[in-house]
Amino acid sequence: MDKYVIIGGRRLEGDVRVDGSKNSILPVLAATIISGKESVIHNVPELKDVDLLIGLLRTIGCRCFFENNTLVVKSNSQLNTIIPEKPVREMRSSIILMGAMLARHGHVKISYPGGCEIGPRPIDIHLSGLRRMGTKITEAHGYINCECDRLKGVEINLDYPSVGATENIMLAATTAEGVTIIQNAAKEPEIVDLQNFLNGMGARISGAGTSTVKIEGVKEFHDVEHTVIPDRIVAGTLMAAAAITGGNIVLNDVIIDHLKLVSSKLSESGCSITEYQNSIQITCSKKPKAVEVIKTLPYPGFATDMQAQMMAVMTIAKGTSIFIETVFESRYKHVEELMKMGANIKVDGRTAVVRGVKKLTGTEVKAGDLRGGAALVLAGLAAEGTTVVDNVKLHIDRGYDKLENKLAKLGADIHRV
Ligand code: UD1
Repeated sequence: MDKYVIIGGRRLEGDVRVDGSKNSILPVLAATIISGKESVIHNVPELKDVDLLIGLLRTIGCRCFFENNTLVVKSNSQLNTIIPEKPVREMRSSIILMGAMLARHGHVKISYPGGCEIGPRPIDIHLSGLRRMGTKITEAHGYINCECDRLKGVEINLDYPSVGATENIMLAATTAEGVTIIQNAAKEPEIVDLQNFLNGMGARISGAGTSTVKIEGVKEFHDVEHTVIPDRIVAGTLMAAAAITGGNIVLNDVIIDHLKLVSSKLSESGCSITEYQNSIQITCSKKPKAVEVIKTLPYPGFATDMQAQMMAVMTIAKGTSIFIETVFESRYKHVEELMKMGANIKVDGRTAVVRGVKKLTGTEVKAGDLRGGAALVLAGLAAEGTTVVDNVKLHIDRGYDKLENKLAKLGADIHRV
């Protein structure tokens, strides 16, 4: 098990580039199987989740070549429509292969995604959308069996703007007969990126980024070349790293619009933010101020994927902050570990009250999930003494491409052991 050893107290300074988005590349990878053609994708981050999904594509019959952050996927052969169980259980988001497989071959057998570290994550909204389009879905022995002749375009109202369900239905609808309209769709930037990729290969989709997405089914696709958008959560995590260390950093290759809420919360806590065309500078005083309330919501609200990192900053802020996690049921695993480092946090259901303390103290902590793990790294950067963060490979590497290199470039004392 890899661990990070961090000696806290260094102020981060300098500039660093932000990689391509994990949550964009995963659905885009699923989308590559629809066309039966060649997809060339640039700015692909080197992440454990990306490796897993590439492995899965290879297992079902795609040829994939990955070098220097460019990935080529050739999906021209007949694909195996039984998706192996182990990787799906390891990575929940592989469930988006369901919609893509239905679009390509009209049937798929896939296992239920495994239990997840951030509470129950059902897929009922995915399944009911696909059923409405004419998929016959049966479930037995932990497997979901989906079959259809040709999916039919219909209007689907999502009970909740689920990111994964919006993507799954978009993928399935690319080859459906007629027009599919998704109402109450998720509006995340990654949905827009998926639309751009699919349209690049010949799909006809509009409205991504709003709550109504319209997909006209087509039969023919062509080769596509695409560049993945920058990862707004990696950018937000680095901004939080600047805030917690009283740093002054510039992040290059970002999309400013995607960082608005994190910027506004960090401004509220006393950091000064300067926005350029494709980069952002964040300059922070030594001690952040508490931000009154941080309530996670679907985009454009405050991202649940930034809740833990922001909480790490608030542990040493002047004053009390309140966090309300509305997206996931149990996403406070990092709290107990932050408290081992001296944080003062009380959790009641979906609410956490964080009273800023004078300082955190380094100790051994364990990442319990991806973003919670990142929060512990941030806490370690600010803590007095040495912090050891365990479970780096299991969790942090899923969503950060060698986080230690970026932080070390900015002056942090961090090593992987
Ligand atoms: C995606 C992101 C994840 C992010 C999340 C919310 C990817 C690979 N992952 O996850 O990083 O934290 O969006 O921004 O893009 N739900 C149901 N039934 C369903 C689907 C979802 O009840 O069928 C619930 C979930 O349990 C959760 C909430 O809806 O409480 C949001 O889930 P969803 O938007 O689907 O998140 P993911 O797509 O899993």
